[in-house]
Amino acid sequence: MRDIIPTLPKERGWMFEHLLQYNGFWFTPTSILDGVIFLQHHFKPRPTDIFLATSPKTGSTWFKALIFATMNRTNFELSNHPLLTTGPHGLFPFLDTYIFQNDHYQDSISSLKSLPSPRLFSTHVPYSMFPDSATDASSGCRFVYICRNPKDVFVSMWFFVNKSRTKEVSPMSLEEAFELFCRGVSPYGPYWDHVLGYWKASLESPNKILFLKYEDMKNDPVVHVRRLAEFIGKPFSAEEERNGAVEEIIRLCSFENLSNLEINKNGAERFSPEIAVDKSNFFRKGQVGDWKNYLTEEMAKRIDQISDDKLYGSGLKFGT
Ligand code: A3P
Repeated sequence: MRDIIPTLPKERGWMFEHLLQYNGFWFTPTSILDGVIFLQHHFKPRPTDIFLATSPKTGSTWFKALIFATMNRTNFELSNHPLLTTGPHGLFPFLDTYIFQNDHYQDSISSLKSLPSPRLFSTHVPYSMFPDSATDASSGCRFVYICRNPKDVFVSMWFFVNKSRTKEVSPMSLEEAFELFCRGVSPYGPYWDHVLGYWKASLESPNKILFLKYEDMKNDPVVHVRRLAEFIGKPFSAEEERNGAVEEIIRLCSFENLSNLEINKNGAERFSPEIAVDKSNFFRKGQVGDWKNYLTEEMAKRIDQISDDKLYGSGLKFGT
């Protein structure tokens, strides 16, 4: 890896100095890139594994909470729920930087092996970069993918990196970030290629990949939490439905509830020796269409045009 890094295409980074292009996508060296390569070569999937796959800023934090709460709903009382004390990130390991959980990567491999099944992982890794042993139709692994309108993703990412970037990296104007985003140069970008990888795979293997939209979950959470529950093998019983279990989970995981918890207001989430982010930065507005407050008409048209070109013939439309 150390040998190939100097040969990789390099661009201005959003949070750190640079992004490097590897297998067609842009990654932060070295933390994220090392983690992705670790995943490609050392991760041994289990048929029961469930991955929450997202591009950054598409609602990963929210869906971590929803999946964890749905999966474990019989294990915890709502009044005393670990989401309230540990928060979504602490309960849902992030695979991309798992290698950094320990000082030695061999220990990270052992720790992955010791996690009880079903293991829940979040990841931003593009579908094409997952090992075949996870994406093969016969592997049994399942993916929940969250897609969000790219205009909201861009605005969310710009605010996030402005708050989270290290002091050594100079600030990035909205215009500069916009150019990079449109050219596909953003963390784990191009955004459109990331989405299309999972979208196409979900058409080929709908039982393996559940493709959801942030906007749909916002518009009709009851329907989509039910779908999520069925997909992860934990459908709500008629009795649970009658007792309002779906609505309780939606309330527990709501932006208002999670963003006001002490655990999410203070402290930082350390992903690797280089990457630590204030937990509060994962909560901004949690709305659909906030891009209208920041993008000019021309910017919006440009993103829409890229979306039309990229998604042409795919059958996918972004949520609005
Ligand atoms: P905004 O910046 O548009 O507010 P990620 O978790 O993938 O980093 O995504 C962060 C985005 O999801 C932010 O969007 C954040 O506010 C929003 N978000 C976080 N928790 C949420 C929740 N419980 N419900 C809805 N949106 C949420």
